[in-house]
Amino acid sequence: MKTAYLKYDSGKALSRIAPEIYGHFSEHLGRCIYNGIYVGKGSHISNTDGIRNDVVQALKEIGIPVLRWPGGCFADEYHWRDGVGADRKPILNSNWGGVTEDNSFGTHEFFELCELLGCKAYIAGNMGSGTVQELSEWIQYITAPTDTPLGSERKANGHETPWAVEYLGIGNENWGGGGNMRPEAYADLYRQYQTFAKNYNNNDMVKVACGPNADDYEWTEGVMRTLKPWHTGAISLHYYTVPTGEWSHKGDALDFSDDEFYSTISKTLYMEELINRHGAVMDKYDSEGKIKLIIDEWGCWYDVEKGTNPGFLYQQNTMRDALVAAINLNIFNNHSDRVIMANLAQTMNVLQAVLLSDSEKLIKTPTWQVFKMFLPHHGAELVRTSCAVPYIYNGGNEMPQLTCSMSKKNGELFLTVSNASLDEDCRLLIDSESGSISSAEGQIITAEVHSFNGFDGSENVRIEDYSGVSIAGGKITLDLPPCSVAALKIYE
Ligand code: AHR
Repeated sequence: MKTAYLKYDSGKALSRIAPEIYGHFSEHLGRCIYNGIYVGKGSHISNTDGIRNDVVQALKEIGIPVLRWPGGCFADEYHWRDGVGADRKPILNSNWGGVTEDNSFGTHEFFELCELLGCKAYIAGNMGSGTVQELSEWIQYITAPTDTPLGSERKANGHETPWAVEYLGIGNENWGGGGNMRPEAYADLYRQYQTFAKNYNNNDMVKVACGPNADDYEWTEGVMRTLKPWHTGAISLHYYTVPTGEWSHKGDALDFSDDEFYSTISKTLYMEELINRHGAVMDKYDSEGKIKLIIDEWGCWYDVEKGTNPGFLYQQNTMRDALVAAINLNIFNNHSDRVIMANLAQTMNVLQAVLLSDSEKLIKTPTWQVFKMFLPHHGAELVRTSCAVPYIYNGGNEMPQLTCSMSKKNGELFLTVSNASLDEDCRLLIDSESGSISSAEGQIITAEVHSFNGFDGSENVRIEDYSGVSIAGGKITLDLPPCSVAALKIYE
């Protein structure tokens, strides 16, 4: 068995891990909203005003802190007025499956969903095909007091009290589907849009500008040169793990080789380089680090499941996805000085979802299990760690076998670790620089890498208590089986 070493200093709290790092993203895409989260009031599935009760419950269990809506690409074709009031105008969803939507899920339904979930709202505003006035009026409609024209319209449509918009995205992927803009042109337009997206009623929005696609450092240069901290809270980064690296043939969600698995892991680990290199560009223009980074789309993107609508992006979710989730979340935690939010794509039935449904049946995927396991990190202080871990060599790919992050909240230390080897266990020796360890409790998610949770009720990938933890001489020994994600509560 190989050995890895981790030393921590619980006296050295670094940045706060924003709960929003555990955020989600729900687009009008396939069965994410319609026939997913939202089944309509007349559905035989238990619901509150059309919103599935079991979905709300499952998302609350993972402490959903924030939800991004309505897109994605869809956001840049969404006109909010079509989705309020009694008379809703249908819309052609030209990005995803070419389906016509009746707009029964609009602004009021989204905010009711956030209220049921107890989470913050991240609105993605339409810059690609909308107008400055349209976005400005949407914010007024949502947040302005009732004695204003748009506030009274909201009241007439059934909701008197203003809602809060905590995060406002201005455009989506404007380097591509959101208008094919040049970064300088986008940034100028952003400045104009954000000027008229005002705060009403003590609302205090974090305004989010469209950042880069994966490794497009020129985009980051172009926008950062023009954006200023007093009108930009954060820029976004989109990066998906595509196992083969080829968009025309991404690889299958269930049927994948060992090589494809390791390439998935290696491409996921690339997230760290992206954060570091975009961060370096950001620092050049904003040396005080006031403009933060939000990774508002991340996750695995496979070929769609055979027999499903290619525009609906439905895919199953295995132990491989659990590892991808754990690796990304460990990376985000470790960069929580810069990363203030991340949104998994997407919440339900689309891409690396935490939930999958088939009529009334609902699966909590391996990815959901990881989000549940990592809950104690929400809002905790990142603890300084130093690690020495073995490497995996596979073909041209070399990668660390383990990733980890550690935090502290209310005096309790919490460590999460992933072991991405398919066949090698690893012994992790944990030592404290700050105090003597008295006890530790472990949990684990481990299964054969192709394992998934099925609609037949099988829960092959789930959290279990873990006994492979021992303490001697104030040090912890954690034996990690291959293909596993573990969590430890440590008491000093
Ligand atoms: O999440 C699916 C799509 O991926 C989003 O609509 C878009 O922003 C990205 O390209």
